[in-house]
Amino acid sequence: MLVQETARAGEEQERGVADESADALERYGHGGDWVTARQRFGWRDDGKVLDFSANLNPLGPPPSVKAVLADALRWVTRYPDPACRALRARLARRYGLDAEHVLVTSGGAEGIDLVVAAAAPRRVGVIAPSFGEYEEAARKRGIPVTVLIARPEDGFVPDPSAVVDGFREADLVFFGQPNNPTGHLYPPVWLRDVLEALWRRGAVTAVDEAFLDFVPDEDERTLLSHVADDRPLVVLRSFTKMFAIPGLRLGFVAGPRPLIARMAALQVPWSVGGLAQAVGEALVEEEAFVVETRRWLAQTRAKLAADLGGVPGVTVFPSAANYLLFRLDLPGATVRDLQEALGRKGILIRSGHTFRGLSAAWGRVAVRTEGENDVLVEAIRAWAAER
Ligand SMILES: Cc1ncc(COP(=O)(O)O)c(C=O)c1O
Repeated sequence: MLVQETARAGEEQERGVADESADALERYGHGGDWVTARQRFGWRDDGKVLDFSANLNPLGPPPSVKAVLADALRWVTRYPDPACRALRARLARRYGLDAEHVLVTSGGAEGIDLVVAAAAPRRVGVIAPSFGEYEEAARKRGIPVTVLIARPEDGFVPDPSAVVDGFREADLVFFGQPNNPTGHLYPPVWLRDVLEALWRRGAVTAVDEAFLDFVPDEDERTLLSHVADDRPLVVLRSFTKMFAIPGLRLGFVAGPRPLIARMAALQVPWSVGGLAQAVGEALVEEEAFVVETRRWLAQTRAKLAADLGGVPGVTVFPSAANYLLFRLDLPGATVRDLQEALGRKGILIRSGHTFRGLSAAWGRVAVRTEGENDVLVEAIRAWAAER
């Protein structure tokens, strides 16, 4: 396993996690950038574009979202509850926590940013490849980051003692469960042992469960029930992916009361809008939709993995989430070339080159409906056949 220190204390980090070149689709570090893609490919009707670059549930949003939004529109003339009290209470009840353990955030992204702000670590630890905002939240505050690069041969799960040792100077460490872009889950015993070792050292651990609601045994795997005042565990959640509401911005964080209070104090007032709060209150109750999504995902992901993996030169990695990481082994061709060719056909995919630990040989696609997945695979097959 490779250890990268992106900066020493007090030094500028050498680069962010976005590709700032003018033509890059990931110039802000993420998929789903419609404005850049539209400019780049000159689509005339982007309603027909298939977006595999953002990992959103194609079965969503559930009908309740539209109904709640229509009703909540009356109240846009009022300020939202600055403390999100109704939603906070519902989340606390749903997950068996006290309301003071919960903070509602403007998307999962705000939770990541606030945990770095509130924990004020001397050094952040990240296992790469993973979601760029963990590193970005540290970088923009001048906080150095230790990055451990996990290997595909190990299923992206490094030896636990190497992780504990590699992060000996980190006092805030992030884990993706499941991790983005790999889709892997850390085994429960692995995670418990690593977290306990880090806690003994006084480090805060942030477990990002933004995609855990896609995993059938979420209830056994979530660490929400382990949140307690005497344990430096923070759990980050998002409503965005499962319910396909990236435009509303809604997530929450659970953690020890003093840390949650610090995060709340650092949050911008009214950061979570009234429409998002109203929708969140309804979505906490949407169990049938989540169960149906999991059933659909298991079948559809298996078919997409088999079909995509059947394209010569494409290796697909196992995933517990609603996206698949793949590697292209075609001489002289990269996923950026593929991305360009697909973009011209109105299909968006995510290149892996902005993820630390991956290169432009890697890509990620969301699992969409079976018909859309077939269009994607055929387009990739046709492109690969021309190489
Ligand atoms: C692992 C992970 N965590 C958090 C987020 C942020 O989600 P949100 O859109 O709710 O801010 C993302 C978004 O891509 C993600 O991939």
